[in-house]
Parts: sequence; C-alpha cells; structure tokens
Amino acid sequence: MGLSTIILAAGQGTRMRSDLPKVLQLLAGKPLLGHVLDSAAELDADDVCVVYGHGGETVRKAFQGDSLRWSEQAEQLGTGHAVQQAMPDTPDANRVLILFGDVPLLMPATCRRLLAETPADEVAVLTVDMEDPTGYGRIIRDGISVSCIIEEKDAGPDEKAVREINTGVMACPADKLRHWLANLGNDNAQGEYYLTDVVAMAVNDGVTVHGVKADTWTEVMGINDKKQLAEAERALQARLVDELMKEGVGFADPARVDIRGSLKCGKDVFIDVNAVFEGEVELGDGVTIESNNLVRDSRLGAGTLVHSNCHIEGATTGTICEIGPFARLRPGAELANNVKVGNFVEIKKSTVADGSKVNHLTYIGDAEIGTNVNVGAGTITCNYDGANKHKTTIGDGAFIGSGVELVAPVKIGAGATVGAGATITKEVGDNELVIERSRQKAIPGWKRPVKKGAK
Ligand code: UD1
Ligand code: CA
Repeated sequence: MGLSTIILAAGQGTRMRSDLPKVLQLLAGKPLLGHVLDSAAELDADDVCVVYGHGGETVRKAFQGDSLRWSEQAEQLGTGHAVQQAMPDTPDANRVLILFGDVPLLMPATCRRLLAETPADEVAVLTVDMEDPTGYGRIIRDGISVSCIIEEKDAGPDEKAVREINTGVMACPADKLRHWLANLGNDNAQGEYYLTDVVAMAVNDGVTVHGVKADTWTEVMGINDKKQLAEAERALQARLVDELMKEGVGFADPARVDIRGSLKCGKDVFIDVNAVFEGEVELGDGVTIESNNLVRDSRLGAGTLVHSNCHIEGATTGTICEIGPFARLRPGAELANNVKVGNFVEIKKSTVADGSKVNHLTYIGDAEIGTNVNVGAGTITCNYDGANKHKTTIGDGAFIGSGVELVAPVKIGAGATVGAGATITKEVGDNELVIERSRQKAIPGWKRPVKKGAK
C-alpha cells in the first residue's frame, strides 16, 4: 500500500505574536514545517500534501521547488475539515498519515512504528501519557483498542481524569477516511469538524483503532508560543549533540553548543563552549573549536585549530591550519595546509597556499597568496576602487612588511620583499626589495605649539 502524508499547517499561530506564520518560525535554523517535511521525506511517502491557510502564500514560497501538493483551507473549521481539503487528490488505495506542521520533533522511527504496529486497513492513533493532560483530547480505551477520543471541552469528569492523550498524529486507509470525513458533524462544544471523531466512526464500522504510545512527550509536543519554541529548541539541540557524542565528538558542555543545520565531524573533534554551527559544516579529524565561535557553511581540514572568538563563513581550510583568536573568514576564503590566520584578520574570496601566515590586523580580499608567504601586521589589500573589485597576487615566499597597502590590481613577485609602510601601486618583480616611503627627517630642538593664553 502506498503512503500519502497530509501535514496540517493552516493554524494562525496568534500566540507567537509574530508577523511570520507559525510554521515558518525557526527551530535549529530551519522552519518548523521544514522539520516535518524532512521526516515525511524519510518515510518515503509517495505523496506529501500540506494544508495551508493563514500566511499561505508566504509558506508556499518558503518551500518553492519542493515537490509538494498544497491544499488551501480558506476557513479554519477544524482538524477534520483541514484533512478533508487534502483528500480530493489523495489516492483511495493509499494509507494516509496525518502529521502537523507545528509538531517538529516527531521522529520518523516513531511514525514507522505507528504504521508497522497497525494493519494498513485499520486506524492508528499516536498517543502519549501526560502528567497534566489539560487541554488535550483524551484517549478512551475499550480494553486494548481505542473506542473514541473526547476533546477537553466536551469531556466529563471521568474522561478528564484520563492521562493518555491524543497527539493528533493518525494513520488511516484513504478510502475509509474519505468516507468518515464526509460524514463528520460539528455538533460539539467548539462547533468544529473534529478529526478525532473519525475514531468513533471507525469503531462503529467495525474497524479496530490502535493507540500507539510515543516514548516521550517532547517528541510529540506542539509549538504554539515562543516559550514552547525555545523548549523544543533545547530538546532538539540535546538530541543533535547526543548523536554527535555517540559518534565520538567531544564537547566541553553538551548544553552550550548550537547546531543549526548539519554538522559532520571526523574522529577526535573537540568543541568548547558557545560554539554555533550553521548550514553545512564539516570538521575533519582532530579539529578543535575553542570557545565562542560561529562556523557557517564551512569545511575545516584535519588538525585545524580555531581559537576563541572567530567568525567563519563559507570558508575552507586544509590540514593543520590555525585560525584566530578574533579572526574572520568570509565566503571564498580558501586556506591550504599549515596556514596561520591570526587575530583581527579578515580574509574574503582569497586563496592562501601552504605554509603562509597572515598573523595580525590585516585585510585580505580578492587575493591569491602563494606558499610560505609572510604578511606583516596591518597589511591591507586595497581591492575596491569604489566601483569595481580588483585582484592582488602574491608569489611564493614573498615577505610583506607591516602596514603595507597593496593597491589592486597589483602583483608581488615570488621571493619579493616589501618594506614596512609601503603603498604599492606597481608590480614588484621576483626577489626584489621594494621600499616606498618618504625619507625620515629630523628637526632638532623643535618647539611644540602652545595653547593661546597659557602662561
Ligand atoms: C487537537 C486534537 C486533540 C489533540 C491536540 C494535540 C482535534 C479535534 N483535537 O486539538 O485531540 O490532543 O490537537 O495537540 O483534532 N489545524 C488546521 N485547520 C483547522 C484546525 C487546526 O490546519 O481548521 C491545525 C492547526 O494548525 C494545528 C493542528 O491542526 O497545527 C491542531 O489544531 P488545534 O486547533 O491546535 O487543535 P487542538 O484543539 O489543540
Ligand atoms: Ca494545539
């Protein structure tokens, strides 16, 4: 039997108090709905349909290009009505799995268990036990199977005492679901078409309803406000760090790291406190990330050491590079092996070949630096003339003295030496020494100006 996934995402999310639709709020750097779509993709569903409503166009745009079906629920008349919007294009022969755009931590393994533990032509409801079940639909069991779900607002005292609740996630055969949804009424406390009423209808038709319990509440929690969003963020971060620790990654404090994207690590990687990883990051064997670093969309080669307080984005390093403290690598910074980039150095769209050092207070932009080059403190590649960017090329083994301005386009030959304080505007040949500064003058006995009226 094929699988169709229907994701309910029409909720307004007023409690977020945000201009951004709820399902676009970020969790670990990705929209809530993105997490649910990733899970659906892992389940190999033939067909994924998102039911959208509030902020619909913005939501659709955010997932442009993904092969999704979109069904609009113009008016929010309840969860049953929402699922109904997706039914016209859902094949009768499929099994339907209903997920929620604001329940992002649900694991594919739990969905698989829900589907596996229930025969495909019967109904499965994902439940969880709660200390305080207030507000949720209660699972009423008849022996082992579920007989109905009673919403809080429609529940009597005995039903309110039940601590097993409906997470909302459900699996049904499409043909039967279509039939039940068509017969839903809204004669209840909220005047809504409840998806949960499908359960009693199934039982009435002699179809068994299985209640499958999730292991933890965290996994099935719905996100309604910023507090729950922050709770989910911590739970997800703990999960991500746990997985990395199992793979052998060392953390000074598993609670003080944030991964907003994918972090792939080799052996013997160590990450100190307050490191933030965004996008696609790869750390080779033996990489050490000291405290307070942001690393985004970068690949750091084996043995690379990143000292504290660096900002690294769109960069790559070879093996055994040393970066920082307080260095900034911007997109297109490509360091080869054994390269050192020290404090208050910014490198953008430049290659630095093996063994070169840029140790202090320097800006390197649009440059190609050869092997074993030493760039002195306070060097600036003047790459921008106000309209266009120009390139600086520095040959192998060149030595750039401190406080040098390299006005691009310009080329420094291999083995060349540029004396401190030079402003270089013309090509420097291989092995040349260039000095470009005015002669030092001395005026003996010179008197400093004195403030008017001073005695
Ligand atoms: C629902 C369940 C309840 C369960 C709880 C778990 C029903 C009737 N009740 O209650 O048993 O314990 O979830 O959180 O199903 N949505 C739409 N369109 C609508 C209504 C809702 O897309 O017309 C979406 C919302 O965006 C939300 C989800 O469905 O993501 C749940 O809706 P909500 O109104 O929060 O349902 P609850 O009353 O909390
Ligand atoms: Ca809810």
